[in-house]
Order: sequence, then C-alpha cells, then structure tokens
Amino acid sequence: MNRQEIDALVKQMNVDTATGPVDERVQQVVVRLLGDLFQAIEDLDISQSELWKGLEYFTDAGQANELGLLAAGLGLEHYLDLRADEADAKAGITGGTPRTIEGPLYVSGAPETVSFARMDDGSEEGKIPTLIIEGTVTDTDGNRVEGAKVEIWHANSLGNYSFFDKSQSDFNLRRSIITAADGQYTALTTMPVGYGCPPEGTTQFVLDKLGRHGNRPSHVHYFVSAPGYRKLTTQFNIEGDQYLWDDFAFATREGLVATAVDVTDEAEIAKRGLKGPFKHIQFNIVLQKDQAGVPSTEVERRRASA
Ligand SMILES: [Fe+2]
Repeated sequence: MNRQEIDALVKQMNVDTATGPVDERVQQVVVRLLGDLFQAIEDLDISQSELWKGLEYFTDAGQANELGLLAAGLGLEHYLDLRADEADAKAGITGGTPRTIEGPLYVSGAPETVSFARMDDGSEEGKIPTLIIEGTVTDTDGNRVEGAKVEIWHANSLGNYSFFDKSQSDFNLRRSIITAADGQYTALTTMPVGYGCPPEGTTQFVLDKLGRHGNRPSHVHYFVSAPGYRKLTTQFNIEGDQYLWDDFAFATREGLVATAVDVTDEAEIAKRGLKGPFKHIQFNIVLQKDQAGVPSTEVERRRASA
C-alpha cells in the first residue's frame, strides 16, 4: 500500500467508525502514529511475528515498569529536552541553568528543610566519601531567589535509589531544601555512584540488540521551583567518570558538569563539623523568570510518591 491508501484505511477504521464523543487530540495522534506504523511495516516489510514480538516487548517493559528507563535510554527524553530548548530559543528565552532529563526515579514527598539538609541516613558512612553540595539559586540578573524549593535526589554507593531499592531507608538521599533570603542551599550527603540498567531488564535487552551499553555517569538530580520562575529539571554529572560523555541516557550537557574537589584542610573539616576529608561540589542554579506566553516547563507524568 502507498501512504494515501494507508491513511484512507486508518481513517476508515478509526475515524469513520466513531459513534460516541471523540477526543480530537487523541484521535489526531492515534491516526498519525498508526499511519506511520503501517508505513514502517510496508517500508521495512515487518513480519507478523516481528510485530507480535514488538508488542510483547512493550507488555514486558510495562510490567517491569521500565518504559521510563527505555524512554531515557533510546534518547526520547533527551530529544524532548532539545525540542524544549528550541521552543525557548524561538520564544527569545536565554540564560539560566540548562535543563536535562528527569529520568524515572523521582519520588515526591521528601523531607523539607530550610537552607541545609543532611541527605543520607548514615548507613554508608566510612564506605564512601562524604559529599557537600552547595550553591546559590539566583535569577538571570544575579539576584538571589528566596523561597526556592531545591529538590535533590541521587543514588547510593551501589548506584541504587531509595524507594525503588527497598533495602534503603525511606527518602534516603532524597531531600527538598528551601532557600532563605541568601538564596543558598547546602546538602550534606554521600558521593553518588553511576549505575547501569538492570542487566536482565527489558531496556538492556533492546540496548544489547543495538550494541549499546546502558551505563550512566555519577550524577545528582534536581527539580528547582520558585513562585514567579520556570520550574527547572536538571542534574549535574560528575567529572572524572568514564561515562561522563558516554551516558546511555544522554543527560550530560555543557554547563552541567560538576567537579568534586577533595577537601583535606583540617580547619575546613572542623568548620563543617565533619570527622575527616570530604568532597565538595559547587552547583549554582540560575532560574528563568516566568512570563506570559512562554512555554511551560511543567511536565505531567506519573511519579512515585511516598
Ligand atoms: Fe539518576
């Protein structure tokens, strides 16, 4: 069939058959995607067995709750960021900390404190370096933002996230820090370790077929929101990791690479109330003012809450 015949067939089966109320947006998207799928079946001569394998794959990926990981791994989530960047550029929006993917491992409801939070539960003390992350939240003119909510989440020394890894305590390595008038936030935590897709999982299954690895560099995720500002979804990736610029989820971006500096100065250690050397990362956040007519940065998606 040619495209004209395909489109006519799709319309005949899914548009002309409507007898009840139609969600026009859903209809538009379904019709388009079906047409594109039929066209791909024609072009690539996809067999019935291959098609069923594909549908079974999505069943398995959904049951394993890996579709969010798959979207990251195949670059769909990064593509949407690039597209949002383009929309911003068209709207004349410049400056601010770059966005990058959320990933599938956010959990809402983390404990909230002002200016400072200790993020780890102490269970990995001595096993992994202590990390202090600090920075300021400012607007694009350099003014400090008071009342910004800095939501931070990251993996433990095994590359696992609390909630999804039931061996960790509730909200371990997940915190919300609200900035005071100085716009400053400080997180006392542990060094995150990069991780890979579950080796037997559905995402790694397809990555293997593509000859790709499923590893991420060590990184820390952020949501930053404040009244009057556009919500920022971002993360920093840590310099020195072998996957820094070879991230399977394509989250590393210019402006989002952080350096973990070793701090061994006794006075500095004492000032921080710590027992030994630690690592320090400075990650300043610049928010863009919200304005009428600019694209929204709020993304609706199903997120875990605890
Ligand atoms: Fe992550």
